[in-house]
Amino acid sequence: ETTGAETTAGEETTTGESESLPETVVIGSDIPYRPFEYETTSGELTGFDVDIAKAIFEGELGIGYEFKPTSFDSIIPSLNNNNFRIIMSAMTINEERAKKVDFSDPYFTAYQTVIVRKDSDITSKEDLKGKNVGVQKGTTGASAAEGLKEEFGGDLTLKKFDQIPGAFQALMNGQVDAVVNDNTVNAEFVNGKGEGKVRFLEGEGEAAEQGKDAPPYLTLTVEEYGIAFRKDDDEFRKKVNEALAAIRESGKYDEIYSQYFQG
Ligand code: ARG
Repeated sequence: ETTGAETTAGEETTTGESESLPETVVIGSDIPYRPFEYETTSGELTGFDVDIAKAIFEGELGIGYEFKPTSFDSIIPSLNNNNFRIIMSAMTINEERAKKVDFSDPYFTAYQTVIVRKDSDITSKEDLKGKNVGVQKGTTGASAAEGLKEEFGGDLTLKKFDQIPGAFQALMNGQVDAVVNDNTVNAEFVNGKGEGKVRFLEGEGEAAEQGKDAPPYLTLTVEEYGIAFRKDDDEFRKKVNEALAAIRESGKYDEIYSQYFQG
């Protein structure tokens, strides 16, 4: 029901899982992860990834798409168990994951950043020593926080949450002192529900080091998001890469980008 091409009664059963273009692509994603995938107050699924999916699948490839909520921590095994065709979940491309899945061309640049309470005495990376740090399980934010822990000789406590809103809530109520997470998702919280209550940890970091057009706060990593495919799904992956290139070319990508991000 959730994999590959579907057939309807009366139709010839000529399609199978290996068919490169399904009628509807089912997309695994951990929701909510605002502004990439989240529900509006009226319960409508929206976000940058959702609009990019619409542009690629409906717009360019002429097929349907459907998001299937999935825990981020188990999203790669879930893909490989055929629970859906691809992953679009603000997922960072990295070597470890690339052993288990294949990625599309990169479609978004992100940075791991740190947020703290506005009245916190934490003003630098070093101040995180001995603190409780909240992360989402299985993410590159969790890995970045593990890196800090090592840097501090183990003197940092990681608190892992199933979903990012749990970590944000814990920051608000003092259960954690900081949250390490993707920059634009943290920004959405700093400027939204956390407004006046939380702030970014400032300073230069990886982005500046790599000569990137760095956001004005501490960056622990520079990352790129990709769409993940099973290793045997090359033909479909190629078509999606072509569609991605086409929406960049046509200006559709920029149009969507400017709906969610400034600058
Ligand atoms: N970019 C980070 C990673 O790949 C976090 C992604 C979390 N995505 C989500 N939809 N919850 O690990």
